[in-house]
Amino acid sequence: MDNHQDNQSRSSLHGQWSSRFTFILAVTGSAIGLGNIWKFPYIAGENGGGAFVLIYLICIFVIGFPIMVSEIMLGRRGRRNPITSMKILGQEEQGNEAWKYVGLIGLMAGFIILSYYSVIAGWTLHYFKLSIFGELSNLNNDRAQSVFGELTGSAVTQLIYHTIFMAITISIIAKGIKDGLERAVKLMMPGLLFILIILLLYSIFQGDFMAGVNFLLKPDFSKITSQSVLAAMGQAFFTLSLGMGCIVMYGAYLPKDESIIGTTTAIIFCDTAIALLAGLVIFPIVFQFGLKPTDGPGLIFLTLPLAFNEIAGGYVFAGLFFILLAFAAITSALSLLEPSVAWMIENKNYSRGKSAIIIGFSIWILGFLSIFSFNILSEFTFWKGTLFDNFDYLASNIMLPLSGLLFTIFASWVMRKDHSTEELSDVSSSIYKLWRFSARYIAPIGVILVFLNAIGII
Ligand code: TRP
Repeated sequence: MDNHQDNQSRSSLHGQWSSRFTFILAVTGSAIGLGNIWKFPYIAGENGGGAFVLIYLICIFVIGFPIMVSEIMLGRRGRRNPITSMKILGQEEQGNEAWKYVGLIGLMAGFIILSYYSVIAGWTLHYFKLSIFGELSNLNNDRAQSVFGELTGSAVTQLIYHTIFMAITISIIAKGIKDGLERAVKLMMPGLLFILIILLLYSIFQGDFMAGVNFLLKPDFSKITSQSVLAAMGQAFFTLSLGMGCIVMYGAYLPKDESIIGTTTAIIFCDTAIALLAGLVIFPIVFQFGLKPTDGPGLIFLTLPLAFNEIAGGYVFAGLFFILLAFAAITSALSLLEPSVAWMIENKNYSRGKSAIIIGFSIWILGFLSIFSFNILSEFTFWKGTLFDNFDYLASNIMLPLSGLLFTIFASWVMRKDHSTEELSDVSSSIYKLWRFSARYIAPIGVILVFLNAIGII
């Protein structure tokens, strides 16, 4: 913690995290978001529950862990945005600049993800408003469905909240992320955890807890298809913010003497715990109220208001919950926007503000297509479904694993061994070897097998 001065002397374009704790907070803030609380339960629900969750957990530890270590390492050595870092490192290690395209795929994935992420974050803002105006009281199943239906049916309402959310994200990025971020994460995480625990108590005592636990934790492999294995892997990348380069970007701000493996362990532990907690809260409510696990992207917006409705003073918790979730979404959105903005600042020489506005504006426009997917374009389906479905599938299940694969191949095969040893010098040689083996063989082979399986080759 006190190595601040020392670290400042090392050259870095963007400054550094003031301490290891800030770095952990920032990456955890990036990792924990709608992916844990909104996406994980509904994807798990659509893919049959237990067996999906098991495969997801395997992907987190076997594929996610080594890749996160690789990405932080690349960032700390490259010290720039993901594209430039990969270009510099590619030249340094192999005399080949083409590695920059890996950073580019990641940035494009971030662009696509943020465009719909902001729309869903807008839904949480709308639910915040509904809670504080008492419009979520006296709910029953039908009423919960119609409140949600009114929201998704209205392009205008969604557009308003999407705009508010993007405006907040852009203005924080325009100021530079370090200041606001630390405070936001420090407040938000304990708050979110607190409310999730209250909801968990509700689910245990009032929900159909055993049905929920059975659904979430008891594997039924007959429900597993090659597509659900791919979805589990995609979700692992999504929830850990991997493959996009934001971990590379944040790694660029990490002081040299901090433990990469230690911080990765802490981050993955928190992220996984929150996702499982969210699942344990939501499914007992699903079964108690006769909803369906396959209800899709609306799942938390249908279930949680019903539960809050039954808790004494629940509307206070509901309001708090949705605003905290919006905060969690903001800290994730920052990490989706920052790499492209940093790239524009470094390469086009634009100011931070101008870069944030140009990129944020384009993402805002792209978001319209996701909004329309729930109303005027809901009949317009191809490949994996609506435009929203396709954006998510393409970015989460294809682009993130692909660039994550290439990041880890670079760190473990292309980068000289003494360089990676130096980055991981704080851990014992057996742990180093374990990382290197996973990063060279297990993670890449895992990703490739899942891909081949999904396209029907094996
Ligand atoms: N991990 C975040 C969540 O779970 C979303 C996110 C932030 C993300 N940065 C990312 C996803 C980079 C993929 C890539 O909500």
